[in-house]
Amino acid sequence: MCGIVGFTGKNNAAAFLLDGLQKLEYRGYDSAGIAVLGDGNFDIQKTVGRIKSLKDKTENGNTVIGNIGIGHTRWATHGVPSIENAHPHSSENGLFAVVHNGIIENYVALKEELKSEGVKFVSETDTEVVPHLLAKYYNGDIKSTLKKVLSMLEGSFALGIICKDYPDTLIAAKKFSPLIIGLSKNSNIIASDVTAIASVTKDIVYLEDGEFAFLTPNGATFFDSDANEINKSISKITWDVSAAEKGGFEHFMMKEIFEQPKSVSQTVNGRIKNGNVVFEDFKLTAEKLTLINKIFIVACGSAYHAGMVGKYVIEDMARIPCDVELASEFRYRNPIVDEKTLTIVISQSGETADTLAALNEAKRLGSHTISVVNVVGSSIAKASDDVIYTWAGPEIAVATTKGYSTQVAVMYLFAAWCAKALGTMKDSEIADFLQEVKSIPEKIEEVLLQKDKLKEMAKKQVNTSSLFFIGRNLDYAISLEASLKLKEISYIHSEAYAAGELKHGTISLIEDGVTVIALSCYKDLTDKTLSNIKEVKARGAFVITCTQNGDTDFEKESDEMIYIPKIDKRLIASLEVIPFQIYSYYVSYHKGLDIDKPRNLAKSVTVE
Ligand code: AGP
Repeated sequence: MCGIVGFTGKNNAAAFLLDGLQKLEYRGYDSAGIAVLGDGNFDIQKTVGRIKSLKDKTENGNTVIGNIGIGHTRWATHGVPSIENAHPHSSENGLFAVVHNGIIENYVALKEELKSEGVKFVSETDTEVVPHLLAKYYNGDIKSTLKKVLSMLEGSFALGIICKDYPDTLIAAKKFSPLIIGLSKNSNIIASDVTAIASVTKDIVYLEDGEFAFLTPNGATFFDSDANEINKSISKITWDVSAAEKGGFEHFMMKEIFEQPKSVSQTVNGRIKNGNVVFEDFKLTAEKLTLINKIFIVACGSAYHAGMVGKYVIEDMARIPCDVELASEFRYRNPIVDEKTLTIVISQSGETADTLAALNEAKRLGSHTISVVNVVGSSIAKASDDVIYTWAGPEIAVATTKGYSTQVAVMYLFAAWCAKALGTMKDSEIADFLQEVKSIPEKIEEVLLQKDKLKEMAKKQVNTSSLFFIGRNLDYAISLEASLKLKEISYIHSEAYAAGELKHGTISLIEDGVTVIALSCYKDLTDKTLSNIKEVKARGAFVITCTQNGDTDFEKESDEMIYIPKIDKRLIASLEVIPFQIYSYYVSYHKGLDIDKPRNLAKSVTVE
């Protein structure tokens, strides 16, 4: 995700800004920029590409003169990677320069209002509304101006701001995105995390949501959201830099597992308005959808599993036939596709070769295409007619977690959008469904509390040779993803089976020492799953059952239980997958394997 830095001190700002941004490179980015205030003017330098090119362009910052500045590495969410979209962004009157990490969810309305007042925008970003709002409401008093503008922003932000009228004051503001302040005798700095601060000072202050601060070379003043001055305690950095890059977690995978509440929240919240779903810049219309008689969801790996969830929810809510296909199969089997087909491709990286090829095949056959991707401006995003971005932020671990969760969240939104467009559900039913969707992040937080229990449970599997997941309907779709997670990072053979299919052959593999994990969140299918559990127990299996809180039907027959919070059964994938992400992580952890970089795997399979 984006990274921000800021500096005010007794020496040149640019050198710190560039070094600080380089330390934030691990966060993933596609463009970068700095703004330094010197002799009453901003010197703004940007690049699409690596920090190194900025360093080369400015002779390591020596050609950019000034003792106060801000810097930014951008992970594109709104608008492709470009110089115009790279931060810092400035106001038309040149008074303010701003860098931002987060998503301003109401930027469209704010931008429209500003444009109606004659403001000219130069970028596609949500961020650019901030400097223009600061210029609009600036009354000569930066504190009251800031209070006003911050109160208008919905969503998440960590902001670094400089203003020509306050030539030594670095402004920092925070809401739901990380921002840390570093204090030292020669300079005061801000950054998205300690990795960019630790080399300058160990004395830090954590801003809380709603707070803002004014930093000068001689000190710092802190304010609450009402602009009342407050006192803040100084902490000491204890993390080493490597731990800081992982947010204090031992591996990127666990960090990203714990980022899922925020990633899902960022992906859905800005798109649910007044009980309906709004997709920005969507070419598919309700009218066009009425002409569609078939949906294909096409993807690979975990993205395919997210598509399986999409199938169940889209068919349940929109009543359009929906098939999920492996991209590597779809592209070669001469699929029955025409202008009445809608093809949705899902891809975290947006670069998977089979998925891109399948997309192009569907387009060639006349289908309208939608891509669900996490990387703005990626090949698949550019090749599709419509794009629905997942806003998971960069995913470093090869085994996807937040990528999958946000893909699944987009499936819910799309199913609701279709139901509204086709009138297959009442508005009140759609609104209730979306209200449940908005509850997912807090319920994921509840599941994450089971981390230590799952760590203990996982120890039993260290020497397991084979492990089966079984389930019906969405429980089956989730079984596929749970099984893949276990396989790809623990190297244990695992299969996911439709529970009703076990007796058609595979049950011959069940014997002492085999583990079967039964996923069963459909109350009306309890007896079916209990029968399956008894079948495999009778043949020596060790059985773990996952079901919803309060359902005790499985305790007697199961060796271990995992519970997830109750939620609308169409949404169980978002919660039921979490324990198995953690469980798989710890099986691999206990086996001492390379969790973030499993053998033989690449984060993006850009070859066939
Ligand atoms: C999932 O943990 C794997 N890393 C893999 O299955 C992945 O989902 C698949 O390669 C598809 O990648 P994409 O989403 O970038 O297209």
